[in-house]
Amino acid sequence: IPSKLAATPPMGWSSWNKFAEHIDDKTVRAMADAMVSTGLRDAGYTYINIDDGWQGQRDANGVLHPNAKFPDMKALTDYVHAKGLKIGIYSSQGPRTCAGYEGSYGHVAQDAKSFADWGFDYLKYDLCSGEWFYADADTVKRSYHEMGAALQATGRQIIFSLCEYGRFDVGSWGRDVGGQLWRTTGDITDDYPTMAKIGFDKNGNPDHAGPHGWNDPDMLEIGNGGMSADEYRTHMTLWAMAAAPLMMGHDLRETSPETLAMLTNRRVIAIDQDARGVQGRAIRKQGDLEIWAKPLADGRVALALFNRGTQAASLGLTAADAGFSSISQVEDLWSGATGTDLPASYAVPARGAVMLVVQGR
Ligand code: DGJ
Repeated sequence: IPSKLAATPPMGWSSWNKFAEHIDDKTVRAMADAMVSTGLRDAGYTYINIDDGWQGQRDANGVLHPNAKFPDMKALTDYVHAKGLKIGIYSSQGPRTCAGYEGSYGHVAQDAKSFADWGFDYLKYDLCSGEWFYADADTVKRSYHEMGAALQATGRQIIFSLCEYGRFDVGSWGRDVGGQLWRTTGDITDDYPTMAKIGFDKNGNPDHAGPHGWNDPDMLEIGNGGMSADEYRTHMTLWAMAAAPLMMGHDLRETSPETLAMLTNRRVIAIDQDARGVQGRAIRKQGDLEIWAKPLADGRVALALFNRGTQAASLGLTAADAGFSSISQVEDLWSGATGTDLPASYAVPARGAVMLVVQGR
């Protein structure tokens, strides 16, 4: 059955980047509260996702129970839903998850049913646990198919997020196993080299991405403090140009005004969420400089200018970069400035980015 979910890339928050397994009911509720009070929900961030570390033990019937830090999952999902948000959970197909908690091995349908009964709207399914991590492509694919089918059998609309790190050309089969997004790389960390390597060079095959199925270059690190403002702007620009899922990974209670402005820039979010669902790509490279283009549903084109070097640079654009013979309208998405033609050149800070939408003919 073709998926109706994730017509545009999912947006929300996940516990892993900031909290790892130090996560509990109280913190998840606090994130839902902060999602609303900061205005992030109204900017489009919908999912509150619990990653690894919520699991307890199975009972005599094989039913998996949360650990003591999550006393009542149904009450928690009710709380999050009442805020106008959705909520996600995490598991892995082996006997153990990456952080050593109980995995879904031998209990796939049972766990899918628990997730649905508890009221979850999203499952991230990892690939961990010794022999599972080293399994061959067919075994891995089958394990995702098994959970994808089990989720569908619950009858609940649950987004299925695959996390096999892009090892087996997942973009070519992620949809077939019921997935709406699939990780394309190993874990992001809160530093420019790792973020840039993923965002510029490793985010899957753009031809695989589109409505209901997205390459996932991993969660955002914006707000965690390890990158400069220009570097985080590059992070947000790259993810939006790539039509990547926008899963925040910081403590939402500690969102600075600068971080909030970056994460809620409506113009930038609109590029990520554009209905045409094209994953943008580099169309020109000149040394440390890259120009990316992403055609939009309304015929305009988003362009990004990236400077991967450590010196400020200036870079000129032409109408042809956007596939036009002349330009009639230019909007700078980070500054908000508008014009009717491209300037002779743009200044792009070291490790920074400029993001535009242009109209032409
Ligand atoms: C590996 C994944 O890539 C991370 O995002 C996170 O889910 C951890 N596993 C949890 O153990």
